[in-house]
Amino acid sequence: MLKKIFIKTFGCQMNEYDSNRIIDTVKKIGFEKTDNYEDANCYLLNTCHIRDKAKEKVYHEIGRVKKIFRSKKKPIVVVAGCVAQAENQEMLKREPYIDIVIGPQSYHKINQTIQGYIDKKKKQEETEFDTISKFNYLSKIKNKHSKVSSFLTIQEGCDKFCHFCVVPYTRGPEYSRPFDQIINEAKEIIKDGAKEIILLGQNVNAYNYKGGNKEFRLSDLLLELENFKELKRIRYTTSHPKDMTNDLIEIYKVSNKLMPLVHLPVQSGSNKILKLMNRKHTIEEYLKIYKKLKEINSKIEFSSDFIIGYPEENEEDFKYTMELIEKIKFINSYSFIFSPRPGTVAASLELVDAKKSKKRLETIQQKLSQNQIKKNKSLEGKTLNVLVENKMKDGIKLFGRTEYMTSVIFDGNTDNIGKIVQIEITSSNQNSLFGVLKDNYKKKVA
Ligand code: SAM
Ligand code: SF4
Ligand code: F3S
Repeated sequence: MLKKIFIKTFGCQMNEYDSNRIIDTVKKIGFEKTDNYEDANCYLLNTCHIRDKAKEKVYHEIGRVKKIFRSKKKPIVVVAGCVAQAENQEMLKREPYIDIVIGPQSYHKINQTIQGYIDKKKKQEETEFDTISKFNYLSKIKNKHSKVSSFLTIQEGCDKFCHFCVVPYTRGPEYSRPFDQIINEAKEIIKDGAKEIILLGQNVNAYNYKGGNKEFRLSDLLLELENFKELKRIRYTTSHPKDMTNDLIEIYKVSNKLMPLVHLPVQSGSNKILKLMNRKHTIEEYLKIYKKLKEINSKIEFSSDFIIGYPEENEEDFKYTMELIEKIKFINSYSFIFSPRPGTVAASLELVDAKKSKKRLETIQQKLSQNQIKKNKSLEGKTLNVLVENKMKDGIKLFGRTEYMTSVIFDGNTDNIGKIVQIEITSSNQNSLFGVLKDNYKKKVA
């Protein structure tokens, strides 16, 4: 009998990729994805541990699941992802409603754990860092989640140990997938219709795979992907400034498909804070990367992540962050107040006064959104290349993205999905551009 799995995904794009691969995997033991949680025989939470009360949020979510299934047959409840890794057996002890806890580097064992639970009714916990086995196993299962814009994980884990961050503890040490394994998966998803591939890794530009006597870097992967005729756009995220090596920067000179938006988190504009964070780069080094890329192509834009109110951040440090934003007009940036994470170096440091942090966050977010609004407004009247991804929920409009990832909404024919079309931008807001297909526009004004 066909069983149904419902997956609720939190956190980063890597969790999204993982959830899709879990769906591909559990098919082997008779599970099919459902979007209707009430139908689920298996309810899986793919969790994120990066900020706030991540653990408590999961227990809260489990409470909700309990309520939903109060008068129905209880589904198998699985907690996967980064909270599962950090909390492991503790979760099974604290919440008997949870049946399986599985960490991100153990997904090759997902079928074994679910089947084990079904057969023996015994709670299961898998939180080994076994990344090599995971990808060897997954590479034999077809990726059936090709979309116009598709994610492809090439690297996992992190050895950098920024003092605020849980990732090295939840995803384990840096691991780069074999070059051929990645190219084969890319071939599959391109064959199934992917026009854009977003290469993923917690430290994607630290990609380094030694095969035979050759060493493969992210730049090699980008060059190889460039050769796929059907593939129109390539992106990668998330990068660390320290790994923005010259071979990668040079690719921007030769690539026609690498998009001109560089997401390069800086976290703070103050060298003092960067040092306290153990970021391993200075603002001067960051600006050097910016300058080099701008010299190669002045159209390259940057986006970033910022942590506000890191322990010992004072008004002067914050001013440096604001000055950096003035210098590099970041687009699409993310900013968060520092959240102490258990087990990290910064967890025990004295916090900046909450009111001050909140005020600084408001100031930075206002500045970042002003820049975004201004940027979008400046695009009105211009014609942009847009990769059309899908139809909107209203069933009428189409959705696509510019080269800089900005959402574009317009009227069009579904034949355009998967194509790069020219859109004349007619209006905008902070997050989206609105426009008309170039040909239609000509007809309208004629
Ligand atoms: N590897 C990337 C890098 O080096 O910038 C970041 C990956 S992390 C998953 C995504 C973002 O979460 C970080 O850039 C940082 O801004 C934010 N973040 C991580 N830990 C945080 C914490 N303890 N408090 C607030 N924000 C945090
Ligand atoms: Fe976290 Fe990124 Fe620092 Fe690694 S480099 S510890 S993933 S913020
Ligand atoms: Fe969250 Fe883990 Fe990604 S902590 S941001 S899901 S790597």
